[in-house]
Amino acid sequence: MGNMSPTLENLTETIINRLSDQGYAVIENFLPGQEIKALSHHAKSLQKNGEMHKAATGLSKQNTNNSILRGDFIHWIEASQACKIEQIYLDSMSSLQQAINKSFFLGLFELESHFAIYPPGAGYQKHFDQFIGRNERKVSCILYLNEDWTKDDGGALRMYLDQKNQNNYIDITPQAGTLVVFLSEEFLHEVLPAKRERISLTGWFRTRSVN
Ligand code: OGA
Ligand code: MN
Repeated sequence: MGNMSPTLENLTETIINRLSDQGYAVIENFLPGQEIKALSHHAKSLQKNGEMHKAATGLSKQNTNNSILRGDFIHWIEASQACKIEQIYLDSMSSLQQAINKSFFLGLFELESHFAIYPPGAGYQKHFDQFIGRNERKVSCILYLNEDWTKDDGGALRMYLDQKNQNNYIDITPQAGTLVVFLSEEFLHEVLPAKRERISLTGWFRTRSVN
């Protein structure tokens, strides 16, 4: 009563329902504003300390033109060495994972996650979240950390809803606190270039490789 802000439990329920109806969910204010701020601040200090590195893709590790494919800088979270704010993120993802497991029997058992910073003008071309020949990534989750983002800033996540019709897509604004969750194998997507620096925290729930 009185408190209208949705709890993590409500949000989780919404995510589960949308995942099962449409294969993806877009949720605003997934974490409280001060936690989003702390995550954004943390990403910027990793960058300042030289702990963000040019991202490679599984498809093109040897490709020197990789930055044409994706132009972001990333930092992988080490769960065993997580700082306080990283742990808050990991805990919230872990409750989401439990809920997804219960509802979908996907057997997701671990999260890999990284911060990503796209400098102005950088994007990530159309791709699926899989390395070639593998399919351990089951559910992709992207949490945005950009305050006061406007449509005019660009940088949308463009998700293609129909592989046969590339005119059928949605654009998601990378506004602070927005979480996008989708079935990794089903959605082709891309990051459009932005006019300003764009920060996100991406996680994948994965099953163990059977190789
Ligand atoms: C990715 C990705 C989308 C985004 O890192 O694989 O597609 O909106 N990110 O940051
Ligand atoms: Mn992706």
